[in-house]
Amino acid sequence: MSQTNPHPESEMMRLGYDPHLASGSVKPPIYLTSTFAFKRVEDAEQYCQVINNLRPKREDEDFSNTYIYGRDTNPNLAVFEKRMAVWDGSEACAVFDSGMAAITAVFMAFLNPGDVIVFSEPCYGCTDFVLKHILTRFGIRPVGFRLRDGNAGLRAALAQPGVSEHLRMIYAETPSNPTNAMADIGECVALARKTSRPDRRTLVAIDNTFLGPLFQRPSDHGADLTLYSATKYIGGHSDLLAGVCAGPVELLNEVKLMRAMFGTTCSPHTAWMLTRSLETMKLRMEAQQAGARVVADYLARHPAVERVYYLGHLAAGDEQRAIFDRQCLGAGSMISIDLKGGKAAAFAFLNNLKLFHLAVSLGGNESLAEHPATMTHAEVDPEDRIEGGITDAMVRLSIGIEHPDDLIADLAQALAHCA
Ligand SMILES: Cc1ncc(COP(=O)(O)O)c(C=O)c1O
Repeated sequence: MSQTNPHPESEMMRLGYDPHLASGSVKPPIYLTSTFAFKRVEDAEQYCQVINNLRPKREDEDFSNTYIYGRDTNPNLAVFEKRMAVWDGSEACAVFDSGMAAITAVFMAFLNPGDVIVFSEPCYGCTDFVLKHILTRFGIRPVGFRLRDGNAGLRAALAQPGVSEHLRMIYAETPSNPTNAMADIGECVALARKTSRPDRRTLVAIDNTFLGPLFQRPSDHGADLTLYSATKYIGGHSDLLAGVCAGPVELLNEVKLMRAMFGTTCSPHTAWMLTRSLETMKLRMEAQQAGARVVADYLARHPAVERVYYLGHLAAGDEQRAIFDRQCLGAGSMISIDLKGGKAAAFAFLNNLKLFHLAVSLGGNESLAEHPATMTHAEVDPEDRIEGGITDAMVRLSIGIEHPDDLIADLAQALAHCA
């Protein structure tokens, strides 16, 4: 082990917590308190000025162990955020009570009436709804680009009248839920830099839920902010809801202010659970990835399957494969399939699975299957759903850590009902 630069998985066991400040307890206690006592009111005054962004923190000030109120932060959140920032390769991190809370805090922190946000399609159904039906109520213009059109689609969105002059954010969910289509993060960053002006920088925010933080690190490619539904791989056991935003301190201060003002702060108990989960995240994600490859190979050979959407099967020469090679470190464990026989076949398959649970969500250690068109993406306008490649024949699979032979046996018996 290098003493100066331990690997992230080693940092997960110790960073940001000293057992000797808590009776030697090897694991952090859960700080179940809503409020924190100060010794002197002058200390409270200085701290409040900094957390409310009324002035920057001075070099000689250390607030790393100062807390005021649970809606701002808490020691359990601080430990998790330090460790998560290591995995993400970012300066700072904020943890929320859901992925949607993290995403909407970023929108609220940086978008103003008159701004344009260019975003990738398809994306998670609730994100799509917020962009098209909520931000528009506040005078923010969402302009979508279809991932299947590649970088040409992104450039065409930026070339639409009135877009580049008012562009404040490029938002990409990559790989996308549920098609596994990818956005080119480097290209988003290059185009954002081109449209930035001294008085208005275009930010790039990436939803890294499907691959991150193990198999994709958007900050390495210049993204300003990285978002996660921590409900998925980071939590990893389908027993909590949480979200993460990671990035530079300067931007995270704005995001944390929104979190405190809207009250979407993660609870101490959830932050403790997430800290526990980070200890095994690498093991889980690698095991899930290995199982997914076996399952995807099986599905690609099955006669009832029309198409497999899996990052490990991208063909050489495909633009998507070039993006994958540039920005991904692994194919992850999300697979979608189109079944021959359309919606009826998809429903027959789902109703007959026994080991896979028929459930939304993903990234947990158990395998899940769902029908995006009628479940996770039901709120997406039908035309956009079809344009985005979400067919009625599509089933999305999240592969867990069960033995791949058992998963394949379950898939085989369920696929036999599709004919
Ligand atoms: C890609 C993606 N982003 C964001 C979210 C929202 O996360 P949460 O359900 O934790 O609010 C989800 C949820 O499924 C998702 O799949």
